[in-house]
Amino acid sequence: MSAIRTAILGYGRSGSTLHAGPIEKNKAFHLAAVCDVDAAARQKAVARFGCRPYDDYHRMLKEEPLDLAVIVTRSDQHCQMTCDCLAQGVNVLVTKPWAVNADEARRMIRTAESSGKLLLPWLPARWGSDLRRLRRLVVEEQAIGAVFLVRRVECSFSTRRDWQTERRYGGGYLRNWGPHIVDTPIQLLGSPVTSVYGRLKQTINPGDAEDLFMGILTLANGALVQVEHTIATESLPAWFLQGTRGTIVVNGAQVKVHASTPARPADPTQYSAMKAVPDKILEEKLAGSPYGDEHQIYKEIAAALRGEAPYPVTPASALELSRVLDAIRTSSDENRVVAV
Ligand SMILES: NC(=O)c1ccc[n+]([C@@H]2O[C@H](COP(=O)([O-])OP(=O)(O)OC[C@H]3O[C@@H](n4cnc5c(N)ncnc54)[C@H](O)[C@@H]3O)[C@@H](O)[C@H]2O)c1
Repeated sequence: MSAIRTAILGYGRSGSTLHAGPIEKNKAFHLAAVCDVDAAARQKAVARFGCRPYDDYHRMLKEEPLDLAVIVTRSDQHCQMTCDCLAQGVNVLVTKPWAVNADEARRMIRTAESSGKLLLPWLPARWGSDLRRLRRLVVEEQAIGAVFLVRRVECSFSTRRDWQTERRYGGGYLRNWGPHIVDTPIQLLGSPVTSVYGRLKQTINPGDAEDLFMGILTLANGALVQVEHTIATESLPAWFLQGTRGTIVVNGAQVKVHASTPARPADPTQYSAMKAVPDKILEEKLAGSPYGDEHQIYKEIAAALRGEAPYPVTPASALELSRVLDAIRTSSDENRVVAV
């Protein structure tokens, strides 16, 4: 079977590591070309892969017979580059955020449909060790009963001063982190979002984009999800799940399941606290990264391109995420609850 002729568009921080790494290791792929406007980035790629360098992706699309373009440029560039590659008959893997808003996402989906090529959204947290473990606990084992509230938080006290701090480049932490931390609780609970209340704030970063966001999402099944990327020197738990029969907390790699089934008091004038006997407390460590294993994801990309198995992230589900992220922003801008 011939190797999948691949090009990376944008050989920057993420393109040269998260994507070049598995492409280099997986024999199903052959890195034929790299396109970057930065000459130093092109040189590094050529030295590592012996691939052909381009500074203009239009020329690359004309000259290279490609099976797959991997788009890892600035977030504001993803939609146009994706549509141009699809229109030239090339399958596309596009990093997160795949689009700056839902309108761009719809445009990419329409272009993929008319080209007959595959559009593969990169949402690695769907392969995350936390999501996988929580799915087993919550969905398969029903360890804490019906989950009615999930809080998902990321804290960092670092600053940056690159394009990610500027709105005109599709920057801001909602687009940067939302595909990891807004998406995963929705995937866990498996129910669509019906309404959103959001808040965005710029605190310590330069530029004009938010570095803090919060959202309260109501799901069709009635569950609430609170998401937050916040600037703090001390960490809050990454996950805090509340169910009708207990609580799960994920703090770093540490998972604590506290199952509790309160007995109903025989006497209706009495009241029973949520601490029935015997409570079950389970503590364990997560194995693997919450952002997935990029080598595993690339195996699944190869299988999808060869028609052996569908790629697990559908464009329709990535569009749903774009709609929720848009709703958090609209809610904050217009100071209202937004129906999704
Ligand atoms: N965990 C993840 O999935 C993850 C992690 C980091 C970044 N990302 C995403 O990857 C994307 C890139 O982020 P980054 O941190 O690597 O940025 P970066 O600035 O390090 O890399 C972007 C690269 O694109 C190149 N570029 C700019 N314009 C171009 C053009 N017209 N043609 C070709 N190349 C061009 C730049 O020279 C640069 O090398 C962002 O959308 C970001 O959200 C995803």
